Amino acid sequence: MSETIEVLDRERIELNNLLVNKAEYSQYLTPVSVARFMASLFDKDKLENPKILDAGAGIGTLTAALMERLVSEQKTFSAECTLVEVDNILGHRIQDTLSPFRGKLALESLEVPEDFIEWGVSVLDKQLGMFRQLDFGFTHAILNPPYRKIRSNSLHRKLLRSVEIETVNLYSAFVSLAIKLLAEGGQVVAIIPRSFCNGPYYKPFRQLILEKTTIKHLHLFESRDKAFKDDAVLQENVIMMLERGGNQGQVKISTSKDDSFTDYNETYYPFDKVVQKGDEESFFHIPTSQEESIVELFPSVKYSLKDLGISVSTGPVVGFRTKENLRMMPEDGTVPLLYPTHIEPDGVKWVKENSKKPNAIVRNDDTEKMFYPNGFYTIIRRRSSKEERKRVISGVVIPDIFNSPVLGFDNGLNVLHKEKNGMQRELAFGLDVYLSSTLVDKYFRLFNGHTQVNATDLRAMFFPSTEILVLLGSWSLSSKDDITQEDIDNKLKEVL
Ligand SMILES: C[S@@+](CC[C@H](N)C(=O)[O-])C[C@H]1O[C@@H](n2cnc3c(N)ncnc32)[C@H](O)[C@@H]1O
Repeated sequence: MSETIEVLDRERIELNNLLVNKAEYSQYLTPVSVARFMASLFDKDKLENPKILDAGAGIGTLTAALMERLVSEQKTFSAECTLVEVDNILGHRIQDTLSPFRGKLALESLEVPEDFIEWGVSVLDKQLGMFRQLDFGFTHAILNPPYRKIRSNSLHRKLLRSVEIETVNLYSAFVSLAIKLLAEGGQVVAIIPRSFCNGPYYKPFRQLILEKTTIKHLHLFESRDKAFKDDAVLQENVIMMLERGGNQGQVKISTSKDDSFTDYNETYYPFDKVVQKGDEESFFHIPTSQEESIVELFPSVKYSLKDLGISVSTGPVVGFRTKENLRMMPEDGTVPLLYPTHIEPDGVKWVKENSKKPNAIVRNDDTEKMFYPNGFYTIIRRRSSKEERKRVISGVVIPDIFNSPVLGFDNGLNVLHKEKNGMQRELAFGLDVYLSSTLVDKYFRLFNGHTQVNATDLRAMFFPSTEILVLLGSWSLSSKDDITQEDIDNKLKEVL
């Protein structure tokens, strides 16, 4: 290839030491291999006279990768591109990045040294008259946006609201704006963290995608820490290709371990495997094997926790806000306090000696409202660690081990309860068995790419009926030997 852009990889690594705003602007520049892959995702038959947007453009690597493709495939003689980059240290290099292509294409480029949210909103407001200049919006958007929380009282939030974008992070804001700036039939390719797939705060973002675009392709990097070898980005990343308008057909799902794409693999899935019918949260599932999920395998797995009369709450005790009431060991006037660490492989253990976490909390007027009556509860860790084999780690709180009328639950736990009370013993154990199964772990990973287990995730999951859960619970209670993973998986299949 004559217009090799490999030099940009060297520049990217050199720049790493020069960037003073690296963290603030999340200046993790895209490796050339990933940029080329992203550029390859646009439809071949849409490449004529493209009007390209690159938002948060860095040194322009993504646009360059697309130029390289245009030149090598000879699909067009001209291209227009708009690159918006807030940091001049990077923005000043865009001209150099694009210069090798100028002789090969009639290339018009506009470098905008501005904040993309401010610029994009003003373009949408037609204040700049850009649409007249651009005719009818962009045909292509390619982006690796910054990620940072957007505070609720910030200018960004206000501006976004003015164009009906409700979102909590810069990455979803960038993609939302890019979608809105696209012409009908235009395509956007973006690399973003996977957290939007199920995070409760990303629901409006998912809805905007579903309303305005069709999802054509999702690519998942399977290894959390290897996607970008040179930057320590510990996020699971997704590349998506969306088209403005159009009819939603099958979705191409591909995976690779890392940015070398050596083990690249792709499969088409029906759309309702990605966004399930009737899912009010519109979670995005990313199936990575043809294997059917527990919900597809067993039609009896069809009840939400709400259908079962079970609520899920995060533990009400926030340790650092009530430090003065925490006690390492129980004493007069305290009640038991449970942390994620109290869930051990063979059940909930309390008191935990030599633990870094307190075992008790003083019962007084300030803490009283934080307690639940002693009873049977299924509790689930809100975070697992990467090393743990499973994402959903649960246990059953058994009232007999506490000599107390009430219990405290730390905020690091999700608590399953019935109207703030415990539940039938067999049901609590049945939920624990179900949540501990391999099939549920696989099901959970379809929509949750991180190690966090949100209450919303649990609310959106499907369970078997109360009767089946009670059956599972009774089985585990009557088992004399230690129950293995294999026992759980076999028993679950048997009762379903
Ligand atoms: C993750 S980097 C990716 C850069 C480039 N797109 C690439 O793929 O190499 C995000 C870029 O967005 C820029 N950026 C951050 N906040 C921005 C904002 N509000 N407006 C425009 N650019 C921004 C950063 O300076 C950085 O160059």
